[in-house]
Amino acid sequence: MTDLAQHRLEPDALLLLLGPRPDGAVGRWIEDGLRTAIVDGRLSAGAVLPSSRDTATALGVARGTVTTALDLLVGDGLLVSRPRAGVAVAALRGPSAASASMASDPVPAPRPARAPSVGTPDPALFPRTAWSRAVRSATAGLPDSDLGYPDPQGLPALREALADHLRQARGAQARARDVVVVSGVAQGLTLLAGLLAARGAGTSAPPRVAVEDPSSPGAVDLLLAAGLGVDPVPVDDDGLRTDLLPDASAVLVTPAHQFPLGVVLAPDRRREVLAWAGAGDRYVLEDDYDAELRYDRRPVAALQAMDPDRVVLLGSVSKMLSPALRLGWVLAPPQLVGPLVEAKTRADLGCSVPEQAALADLLRGGAYGRHLRRVRTIYRRRRAVLLDALAAQAPGLRVRGVDAGLHVVVELGSRGAEEEAVRVLAGAGVPALALSATGARPGERFGVVVGTARVRDGQVGAVVRAVRAK
Ligand SMILES: Cc1ncc(COP(=O)(O)O)c(C=O)c1O
Repeated sequence: MTDLAQHRLEPDALLLLLGPRPDGAVGRWIEDGLRTAIVDGRLSAGAVLPSSRDTATALGVARGTVTTALDLLVGDGLLVSRPRAGVAVAALRGPSAASASMASDPVPAPRPARAPSVGTPDPALFPRTAWSRAVRSATAGLPDSDLGYPDPQGLPALREALADHLRQARGAQARARDVVVVSGVAQGLTLLAGLLAARGAGTSAPPRVAVEDPSSPGAVDLLLAAGLGVDPVPVDDDGLRTDLLPDASAVLVTPAHQFPLGVVLAPDRRREVLAWAGAGDRYVLEDDYDAELRYDRRPVAALQAMDPDRVVLLGSVSKMLSPALRLGWVLAPPQLVGPLVEAKTRADLGCSVPEQAALADLLRGGAYGRHLRRVRTIYRRRRAVLLDALAAQAPGLRVRGVDAGLHVVVELGSRGAEEEAVRVLAGAGVPALALSATGARPGERFGVVVGTARVRDGQVGAVVRAVRAK
């Protein structure tokens, strides 16, 4: 593992941890954001914060505001201030500081319901009958030998079916022996981040991963939690600005449909990102985010097809079937398969065999393809209805992204408009995320990411009102 005592945070990483900046009370924003990150473990013991001067510049606040917030956390024992070494995260006792305050209250407070993510399919369209049938028949057909601990790499029948699917649907160079079944893109990324962090063990600085800016806040959190440094790289209409790629161990990209801006990585950028990877001992982590949902043409092929020794393709059933299944895959360069399987074994000994067998049945029997064609038609129509209404009733607003996927970005002019839009959409039951929550430079770009796949006709008016609210 990386030596966390040496782990120095970059000001940009701090921005990602704190999330969007509020209009007022910026001191509380810094204090509360750091407190939460320390208590829930995203900031590990020993991590050194940037200087108060650098932090103030990065956050666009007065230096005194930063020092006051840090002093309060030092006073609480969550940070330690060491002469000349800077301010570092203190070692907490027990599972987390939060548990101390719950010690006298054995019944934890109920967690608030998780807001529907903007990048999720409509749960009402989950193919319950086909899935139940597949689980029943796959379970009935499993030999006793498959009911012990699973092959941690994944059920061979599923790896075969996935390799076929990835070749046909994504143009990937896929062999069953290079597929590792995981519980989703999130787990695949966590395992890969652990491998990258281990490569940096013994060096003075943690390995760094370039990420798209803006990008999925959850994915960035996973990398930071693994002890990696994160370097945000801007995204424009052609995708990741490959000319700005830093010297890093890997880059995490969503080439087929960027999250959240919805652009596609242009052909020359695809070549450039591979050239960058080839020029060093680097990997491209390709998050195949909702890639199969292109409405105007065939989806662009996976980048993995162009360099299977450097590109790691990550995907899951979360966008096509349901994130509740927790099933996904990593199509890895051959040299990473062994280490990934070891990491997967250490993590959880492997995924559920009956569920893997059911997914193999769905893929082999054609039910997965039928479901995909059905939801593609529905999501395409929902997106078109919403965009037509926005064009007619809110002309002048910029809607980003190609005709694809589960979400759309509507750009807005100010933080106030963004906050109001997210509030109104939440009230209307429409999945929404502030665009500034997805970027490393929250003060620069405002808008709302709307989960179009779940917007029914009756909710279209609410979306129009929300983005016109200010
Ligand atoms: C861009 C992106 N990548 C990956 C994930 C995680 O997906 P999974 O459910 O496969 O872990 C999400 C979650 O919504 C996401 O938005």
